[in-house]
Amino acid sequence: MALKITVIGTGYLGATHAAAMAELGFEVLGLDVVPEKIDKLRRGEVPMYEPGLEELLRRHVAGIEGSTGRLRFTMDWAELGEFGDVHFVCVNTPQRHGEYACDMSYVDSAIASLAPHLKGPALVVGKSTVPVGSADRLAAYLAEHAPAGADAELAWNPEFLREGFAVQDTLRPDRIVVGVRSERSEKLLREVYATPVEEGSPFVVTDFPTAELVKTSANSFLATKISFINAMAELCEATGGDVAKLAEAIGYDDRIGRKFLRAGIGFGGGCLPKDIRAFMARAGELGADQALTFLREIDSINMRQRGRMVELTRQELGGGPFLGKRVAVLGATFKPDSDDVRDSPALNVAGQIHLQGGQVTVYDPKGMDNARSLFPTLGYADSALEAVRGAHVVLHLTEWREFRELDPAKLGEVAAERVVLDGRNALDAEAWRRAGWRFRAMGRPGA
Ligand code: UGA
Repeated sequence: MALKITVIGTGYLGATHAAAMAELGFEVLGLDVVPEKIDKLRRGEVPMYEPGLEELLRRHVAGIEGSTGRLRFTMDWAELGEFGDVHFVCVNTPQRHGEYACDMSYVDSAIASLAPHLKGPALVVGKSTVPVGSADRLAAYLAEHAPAGADAELAWNPEFLREGFAVQDTLRPDRIVVGVRSERSEKLLREVYATPVEEGSPFVVTDFPTAELVKTSANSFLATKISFINAMAELCEATGGDVAKLAEAIGYDDRIGRKFLRAGIGFGGGCLPKDIRAFMARAGELGADQALTFLREIDSINMRQRGRMVELTRQELGGGPFLGKRVAVLGATFKPDSDDVRDSPALNVAGQIHLQGGQVTVYDPKGMDNARSLFPTLGYADSALEAVRGAHVVLHLTEWREFRELDPAKLGEVAAERVVLDGRNALDAEAWRRAGWRFRAMGRPGA
C-alpha cells in the first residue's frame, strides 16, 4: 500500500513540500496551528508569493474542482497521528530575539504535540534547519513519549529549496540528504523519494549530525561566496577595478564557479543571515567556536554593504544630509520572485535613508503589502514610474526582471535628476548611460 504522508507546518517549506508529495502520488495531510493558514490552503490559496506553487496546490487540494483530492489540511493532531506513516516536520526555526542562537520552540512543540499520537510504527522526518545535535535529542524524546516507543523513529532530511524556485527545487532536488539510524528509515525515505531519485537526484545517506551539518554548512558556504565577492567589490572601489568583470573572470575556473558571485548590497532573507549566526552560536556551545569565527567576518562584510549603499547614495546627492532629497527605491523583497521582506537589504537601505530624513518612495512587484506592514512610514508607489517621478536619485535594490526591462529614457522624463545606483549589479549600464543617466554600481568604476 502506498505510504501516507503528513506535513507539519505549512509555511514556505511545508506548503511546498506537501504539494510536491501529492504531485509525486502520495496521500498527504498537512497540519498547521494557525487557522487562517489552513482556511486559505483548503481554498487552494498560497499564503505567500511563490511561482508555480498555487497551481501545484490547486491540482491536489481536496474539494477543488478537477483536483486529485490527494492533499488535505487539518489542525487535529490525533487525526494526523492516525493518518501518517511518514511525518515531515517543516516548522521554522527563526533567530532568537536578542541572541544568535535559533529558536527551537516550534520544532520542540511540534514533536511534543505529535508524540502522544504515534501509536504504531511511524517515521518522523525533520526538515527544519536546526542546531547540530537536535536530532539526537528529539529521537530520544520520541522513543520516550510516543506510545509506539522505539517504533516511532526519527530521521533528518534537510531541505535546500530556494525561494522563487521552491517548486522545481522540491520536485527535482539537486541532492537528497537523509540522516538515518536504521535500514527501515532509509527504506521508507527511498520510497518517498523514488521518483526524483529515478530522475537523477543523488541520494546521500548519512548519520544525524552530518545531515544537520550539511544544511548549515551549505548555507554558510553560499554566504561566504557572496561576502567574498562583496569584499572584492570594496577593493575594486579602492583601486578603480570592476567587480563584475572580476567575478566573470574568476568564475571561468570551474573550481570557483560563476554562481553566487554577484556583488551588491548582500544577502538577506529568512535563511542565510540567521543560519550563519545560529551555526556560530552552536559551535560556541560545542567548544568549537574557533572553527567558525570567519563567519563573524562574513556577517559583518554583508551588513556593511547596506551602509555602503547608503553612503554611495549620499555621495551622489552631494555629500550632505538627506533632508529634502527624494529617493526612489526599486525593490523591497530580499530577492526577486518572492514577496518575502524578512531581513531584506533593500528595505534596510530604504529605512536607513528615510530615518536620516530622505523622502523615500518604494516600489516592488510583489512585496508591497509585506513591506508596508514592516515599514509603514516609508512612501510607496504603485509602479516603478511613479516611484521615480520627481526623484533626485534612483536606487535599484532587488533585481526583478521588471526593473531590467524598464525604459531608462521614459524614466528619465519623470525623474528630477538622472542618477541611478545599481545595488545588485544587474542593470544594463550602457543602456542607462545612453539615455542620459549617471550610472553607479557597487564595486564598479563610476559614471
Ligand atoms: C537559501 C539557500 O540558497 C537555499 O539552498 C536554502 O534551502 C535556503 O536558503 C534555506 O535555508 O531555506 P534563499 O534564502 O531562498 O535560499 O535565497 P538565496 O537564493 O540563497 O539568496 C539569498 C540572498 O543572497 C538574497 O538576498 C540574494 O539577493 C543574495 N545574493 C545571492 C547575492 O547578494 N549575490 C548572489 O550572487 C546571490
